[in-house]
Amino acid sequence: MYVCVCAAATDAQVCACIDAGASTVEEIGAGCGAGTGGGSCLHRLATMIEQRLSGGGAA
Ligand code: FES
Repeated sequence: MYVCVCAAATDAQVCACIDAGASTVEEIGAGCGAGTGGGSCLHRLATMIEQRLSGGGAA
């Protein structure tokens, strides 16, 4: 599923970035491009970081 349409980044790509150490939306953007376009997905990205880093499993 795409979480960032601007960068055509999927939830799997974003999760991979988080697992690789990204803990901010900026770091996710650097890793896979998500959140670097119009920014409409930034809230979703922040929620995914929060859930993933808190041990919530798949965001
Ligand atoms: S949908 Fe992610 S930056 Fe546009």
